[in-house]
Amino acid sequence: MSLEMLIGADNAAAALQRWPDRPYTVRLPDDSPIARIITPRAVRGFLDAGCGPAGYVHIYHQGAGLHPARFTVDDRVSPASVQLLLDQGCTIQLREMDRWWPPLAAICTAIQTETCCPTYATSFITPPGTQGLDYHWDQNLGIIVQLDGTKTWELWKPRVDSPHRDHAMSTQTWDGEWVKQWREQGPEMEFELQPGDVLVLPRGWVHNPHSRRSTQTSVHMTFVLKERSPVWVAERLVASAVNDSRFRAVIPPADFAPERLPAVIDSVRSLISDYLATLDVDQLAKALRYAGETESSHNIM
Ligand SMILES: [Fe+2]
Repeated sequence: MSLEMLIGADNAAAALQRWPDRPYTVRLPDDSPIARIITPRAVRGFLDAGCGPAGYVHIYHQGAGLHPARFTVDDRVSPASVQLLLDQGCTIQLREMDRWWPPLAAICTAIQTETCCPTYATSFITPPGTQGLDYHWDQNLGIIVQLDGTKTWELWKPRVDSPHRDHAMSTQTWDGEWVKQWREQGPEMEFELQPGDVLVLPRGWVHNPHSRRSTQTSVHMTFVLKERSPVWVAERLVASAVNDSRFRAVIPPADFAPERLPAVIDSVRSLISDYLATLDVDQLAKALRYAGETESSHNIM
């Protein structure tokens, strides 16, 4: 009932059963409230009125972030500075707008209730003929809604298997040779998004988005869905062990001596095995569902 606002009922139903692992585009559904509420004028309005919270506004020039002093005065984003920087070809990023724009908060909460994926929404404003961020991949599924202007997305297959949280981030595993290879071989997929187009971009897919061919300013909103994984479930299983007093016993400092630690680990491993074998999974399922729906994107990695 929420993903369908972005990708339509059939695609949403399919995604809930089999999470997307290849990029594709769709049109924003005609009856989607997104088109009615999340408009480019509304997004720009936060900047033009100086209402965008300074901590959530980032500005990039040729891939590098500008110091906030370039566009803030007394901790407020300066509309005049923002316009000047846009005129100079900078890209504006309004991060996690769901934290400070109630309609987006409602949409992202609804997506999490449906999918158990904490969701946030970030908008980008890119002047015509320019580029903000370049080659990278992300750790989570992105659903990109083009609101105004056009943006070209050059895509390549993932370089790493299932990037997740801070495991295999593109900034950590980057190889300078890759960009040369991607440029030489050309993109494996390319989409030029028009207003109302939606790109579903699975985690790990390398992307080089730009508005170099756009004749007007591009505005898009990216919804980021932070997928749950077996490691998340495993963490919750182990976390529930605190209800068992055996796991609350003190380990004497002396047992942390290197020669004693293997025995400590072995003992705790046995305890965990014993605990998990007798766990009431039906009872835990209720708690897990609740955690899936309510844990925000800010208290997980
Ligand atoms: Fe990205």
